[in-house]
Amino acid sequence: MSGSSLTVTAGPWTVITGASAGLGADFARQLAVQGRPLILAARRQERLEALAAELEEATGVATVVVAVDLATRQGPAELFERATADGRQVDMLVNNAGFGAVGAHLSTERERHLQMLDLNVTALTDLTHRFATHMVAHGLPSHVVNIASIASFQPIPNLAAYAASKSYVRDYSEGLAYELRSTNVAVTCVHPGGTLTEFSAVAGMELTAASEATMMRSEDVVRIALRGVRRRRVHVVTGWMNRLLGWSVAWSPRVVSAHVSGWIMGRLRT
Ligand SMILES: NC(=O)c1ccc[n+]([C@@H]2O[C@H](COP(=O)([O-])OP(=O)(O)OC[C@H]3O[C@@H](n4cnc5c(N)ncnc54)[C@H](OP(=O)(O)O)[C@@H]3O)[C@@H](O)[C@H]2O)c1
Repeated sequence: MSGSSLTVTAGPWTVITGASAGLGADFARQLAVQGRPLILAARRQERLEALAAELEEATGVATVVVAVDLATRQGPAELFERATADGRQVDMLVNNAGFGAVGAHLSTERERHLQMLDLNVTALTDLTHRFATHMVAHGLPSHVVNIASIASFQPIPNLAAYAASKSYVRDYSEGLAYELRSTNVAVTCVHPGGTLTEFSAVAGMELTAASEATMMRSEDVVRIALRGVRRRRVHVVTGWMNRLLGWSVAWSPRVVSAHVSGWIMGRLRT
């Protein structure tokens, strides 16, 4: 746990999963500038501690670091307990931790797919259930922010289980947003497209210079996402190219979308 006598601890806390890299680290940077005390979670403790020190130095916000493997059965429970210890009230959960298992389904280790579903689906659901219950109980205006993907829009050959995990996040968030519409808890589901983070390296994807050139910067994706959160949008698709893609998929037969995305995935090197 970090913190000093000069840090800002007033007000409720924000929990960010997957804060050690990419989008999660940028959510932390932009929310710290808003003066929000932060609970930063991921497996790599040193990365989280370095980020916590950077944010405390730059903004004076208090931070708590929780090194946890969320793909385990006890991981989400441990994060919830540590986040709400000492009477802390959490009014924002950013369910961002996730990864993609890329490649032909049968040639990718079964265990890899299962770990991905444990993180992208089970941990996200477990954390949402725990924190949304806590938020309804304390009654402060609160927000659950779930990071899905434009992969949620259609079936994607060679990324089949990942795309399906993100479709789950999309539909789950939308259903929950409706259920909670007359409570103090808003739900926003964010759909980034290709974004320059560690995601491709973790997925084992080799990006060409041309595909990198079409990807967005992580800080821009987070800025758009947080604007949607402020406006209490249920879905936020980041960037006009991704919105165009979402629109074209919505108007295409699913079999056509599957063929097109299969062709695009076939051009990527894994
Ligand atoms: N980048 C893209 O192109 C893109 C596009 C659409 C959607 N997304 C989604 O955006 C989210 C963030 O991804 P990113 O692009 O920022 O990727 P990233 O740079 O690889 O960051 C992923 C984060 O998740 C954490 N994480 C991974 N496994 C974990 C585990 N078992 N327990 C706890 N934390 C874990 C990682 O930290 P540790 O390794 O330290 O645990 C890291 O902080 C993901 O949900 C991803 O699916 C990304």
